[in-house]
Amino acid sequence: MKIVEQIKQPIAFEMDLFEQKFLLSMSSKVALLNRITTYIVNRKGKQMRPMFVFLVAKMVSNGEVNERTYRGASVIELIHTATLVHDDVVDDSNRRRGFFSVNALWKNKIAVLIGDFLLSKGLLLSIDNGDFDLLKIISIAVREMSEGELLQIEKARKLDITEDVYYEIIRQKTATLIAACCSLGAASVKPESTHVETMRKFGELIGMAFQIKDDLFDYGSAKIGKPTGIDIKEQKMTLPLIYVLNHASKAEKKWLINSIKNHNKDTRRVKEVIAFVKDNGGLDYAVEKMKQFQNEALQLLNTFPSSEFKSSLELMVNYVIDRKK
Ligand code: IPE
Ligand code: IPE
Ligand code: MG
Ligand code: MG
Repeated sequence: MKIVEQIKQPIAFEMDLFEQKFLLSMSSKVALLNRITTYIVNRKGKQMRPMFVFLVAKMVSNGEVNERTYRGASVIELIHTATLVHDDVVDDSNRRRGFFSVNALWKNKIAVLIGDFLLSKGLLLSIDNGDFDLLKIISIAVREMSEGELLQIEKARKLDITEDVYYEIIRQKTATLIAACCSLGAASVKPESTHVETMRKFGELIGMAFQIKDDLFDYGSAKIGKPTGIDIKEQKMTLPLIYVLNHASKAEKKWLINSIKNHNKDTRRVKEVIAFVKDNGGLDYAVEKMKQFQNEALQLLNTFPSSEFKSSLELMVNYVIDRKK
């Protein structure tokens, strides 16, 4: 059995029902909107966030989920989808999930509005049902994601990013939403328990590993359904490059910075930078850090008794690191 199927086994029923509810959660009276949301739904992603929501909810409650859990999973996937639509505008990226991005097909104007629509649909799903505790978890994640994306842009302009600032960026732009999945999963079934905070931390650690993995993909050439090699073009400095910059000679550093600042659209030069990063241990270092976050996450899971849900979460933590897209 494929690893993803194995992970999903204890939540197969919930994920099926989730998909139906998720589709309904996007509906609109405007035909153009429906055309685009149908396009988006038909090119679904890995759905890791709802998987985290259901697995955590079932682990902390011995297998119980409720309508709050389903709504929380839908809200998070709606918001995730909204941020990807916006992110492809921000990053000027024309591919997503193996197909054209929304901005590539319908242009930026429409992509911005679609993202806003999905965000509002998500927030309203919580509000209309009085899930205010869950809405708070989600709203914090939305704020942090915007701050993280902006901090990233600020640092891309100045090219003065440190390793700590990098961790802050990925914590905000990616890890907080995965943290929200896990704390919301727990809060949907056990709102007053200490599991809510433990699971938030668990999700945050996985989220860090998840984004380091995503940044490593950018240095590869595997078919991952979105462009690779675009981070340097966008002057986005990620962990492999930051490490190499910090360990380079003065002359090498000057060459690297000059390449990123003034030659970032020159494909040959970008390839040389990528080769330099690889040859100087940048990727190895990032892999090592990713594994540290993975191990910390696994340790937090150890505080829970064995169950099929816990086993799936362990597999999921490893999948974040080993995944091929
Ligand atoms: C992509 O997330 C955005 C990042 C935080 C790197 P996913 O890789 O989970 O995207 P989909 O939903 O599977 O396409
Ligand atoms: C992910 O950022 C998007 C958000 C977390 C908002 P990236 O720009 O690094 O991710 P991809 O590679 O486009 O999915
Ligand atoms: Mg981005
Ligand atoms: Mg992007």
